[in-house]
Amino acid sequence: MSEKRTDPLRTALLDPLTNGLPIPNAMERSFDRAPHRGDVLNDGEMLLSIKNALRYIPNEFHDTMAKEFLDELKTKGRIYGYRFMPHERPSAGPFYRYNGRCIEGKAVQLMIDNNLDPDVALFPYELVTYGSNGQVCQNWMQYRLIKRYLEELRDDQTLVVMSGHPLGLFPSRKDSPRVIMTNGLLIGEFDDQDGFNKAAALGVSNYGQMTAGGWMYIGPQGIVHGTYITILNAGRKYLGIPDDGNLKGRLFITSGLGGMSGAQAKAVEIAGGIGVIAEVNDRQIFKRQAQGWVKLVSDDLSTIFGWVEEYRRSEEPISIAFRGNVVDLWKYVVENNVQVELGSDQTSCHAVYDGGYTPQGSTYAEAMGDPEKGLKGMMETDREGFKTLVDRSLKVHYGLIKEMVERGMHFWDYGNSFMRSVFQAGAKDIAKNPDDTSQGFIFPSYMEDLMGPMVFDLGFGPFRWVCLSGKDEDLALTDAAALSCMDPERSAQDRDNYNWLKDAGKNALVVGSKARILYQDAYGRIRIALKLNELVRNGDVGPVMIGRDHHDPGGTDSPYRETANIKDGSNVTADMAVQCFAGNIARGMTMVVLSNGGGVGIGRSINGGYGLVLDGSKRVDDIIRSALEWDVMVGVSRRSWARNEGSIKVVGNWNKDNAERGHIILPYRADDEKLKGLLTRKD
Ligand SMILES: NC(=O)c1ccc[n+]([C@@H]2O[C@H](COP(=O)([O-])OP(=O)(O)OC[C@H]3O[C@@H](n4cnc5c(N)ncnc54)[C@H](O)[C@@H]3O)[C@@H](O)[C@H]2O)c1
Repeated sequence: MSEKRTDPLRTALLDPLTNGLPIPNAMERSFDRAPHRGDVLNDGEMLLSIKNALRYIPNEFHDTMAKEFLDELKTKGRIYGYRFMPHERPSAGPFYRYNGRCIEGKAVQLMIDNNLDPDVALFPYELVTYGSNGQVCQNWMQYRLIKRYLEELRDDQTLVVMSGHPLGLFPSRKDSPRVIMTNGLLIGEFDDQDGFNKAAALGVSNYGQMTAGGWMYIGPQGIVHGTYITILNAGRKYLGIPDDGNLKGRLFITSGLGGMSGAQAKAVEIAGGIGVIAEVNDRQIFKRQAQGWVKLVSDDLSTIFGWVEEYRRSEEPISIAFRGNVVDLWKYVVENNVQVELGSDQTSCHAVYDGGYTPQGSTYAEAMGDPEKGLKGMMETDREGFKTLVDRSLKVHYGLIKEMVERGMHFWDYGNSFMRSVFQAGAKDIAKNPDDTSQGFIFPSYMEDLMGPMVFDLGFGPFRWVCLSGKDEDLALTDAAALSCMDPERSAQDRDNYNWLKDAGKNALVVGSKARILYQDAYGRIRIALKLNELVRNGDVGPVMIGRDHHDPGGTDSPYRETANIKDGSNVTADMAVQCFAGNIARGMTMVVLSNGGGVGIGRSINGGYGLVLDGSKRVDDIIRSALEWDVMVGVSRRSWARNEGSIKVVGNWNKDNAERGHIILPYRADDEKLKGLLTRKD
């Protein structure tokens, strides 16, 4: 009896009044639902999957739950444990409303709930925060158990989470992380989408994207900022826009108004340009329109390009959503000879056959199904036929973009695996060398041309914080404090970020937790974090949690994205991301995560991130100084060893400024001209 009362699974999962199974929630019909993920298990494996899920369930309920789990497996291809969804809708409440024995335990609960808030999450019922399939954890049993453990967590314990499964609370030390997580890490032989799909259907692996499974998502603001910086730098590099200019009168065409892609509409307006964004899912369009992130909507392309011309003339910024397939949008543009300066794509090509890409000729419902109407999509009913349609569509999509590039448009791959998917679909000429894709593709990736050399090599990346009090006043105070730490004259990056922060309140970017993002290098991040910790210490604001996206100089090894501008051959390795993760653990970050496939899909990246709770203590000041520096400089050092010019300069300066504290190795650079003849020389 006493064992029953203390069993965390019973206390986490069962109804406290009846000690029975919780009553299932009525499903809100207006929420988007994840598509069926495919029937990938044979009968024996299905039983194994159900048996795996039953590990969370006390034995007396196995008959009932085995049937429910079987039904979920058949209708969704995964077991989510819908019955265990909380009755109260998750949202980031002020931290003090959470139960817990330490502030870190409460803060992490807040971050998780923010990732699952229906205003923030893409498919809240399936625990998907963003990016088509990036989950907080695999199922609602895990969610409840994680919350329970976080309520119990003491500051001398560490919660270990493996692919969403909380393994337990382990004794550690005050200066250890409170939560260490991994997501979707697979053994090499099985490290591909098929291997993952089977493991996920068996309930033993989670795809966490980046901050979905790393619990540091802050809604689309994070990505608005990154997109704003990218579009602005694209204008500078490709169109010769001056450092203090903007994109007025220039047209940017792209796709996607989903989790991250939705930011494009807002970002292009902040950058002063004209954006036309195709989206097949009406729900996403109307969500962004209600938020005020997309201004005009139409399914008629001649109306849309009439608007474009008006705004070109007035040089006013505008965002326009096309209700339809991006391939049809490009077709119109090519056929009508529309002048387009900048182009990209943000369909979820990292999961191109798994719901991320709707092929031309199919509506969203025909492709993915419509659970509200009880309709199954082709992806579920005819997987092979669906793949054929996707491949055909991708090839047409590519052909139209290629035509526009020949006419003078500048296109870049937005880190969504678009070019890789086109290659896999059969358009081999998209690779520079069709026999060796490690040599890259014919269009630049935003990382090779823009973000790599102009941002990441210099150590700049997405620093963010969340005011755990949930108060707008705290956010305003922290904004002002961060602004006081920045010098807009130091560099173009500093100026962009200074301007961004100055207008951030006015641009009403908060969705969910009271969060702010900006790009800073190691020094800037440390300065701001110390200042915020001081505000907490002085009682000016409540506690703050800082962190970053994994999309950063050091956190992610991803040859098609974050490390695409690393050209010494080491872009196929994942040593940096793993070292970054290990170093952050050693330096006592609050929450540390390492995941597989963030941004680009399973097997294509290893990515990690952290969260650190600022409680005002001197202990945290020390962690800020050592861990934030490490987290950035591990990336800059590796980039410098890869002979990236910007990084070599940053490391040189670091060595000068820190001669007493440490040293980072710098490369000797060989003379290419001398090397050229080496292999053919006869002497
Ligand atoms: N913006 C960035 O810096 C960045 C960073 C990381 C990753 N990405 C990548 O960008 C992609 C998009 O991310 P997300 O979070 O927005 O995913 P998402 O799945 O939430 O959104 C993609 C949207 O594209 C729409 N779509 C799919 N096929 C379409 C088609 N043919 N025509 C028009 N619309 C179509 C979908 O309906 C969906 O709303 C992902 O692959 C992600 O990994 C981008």
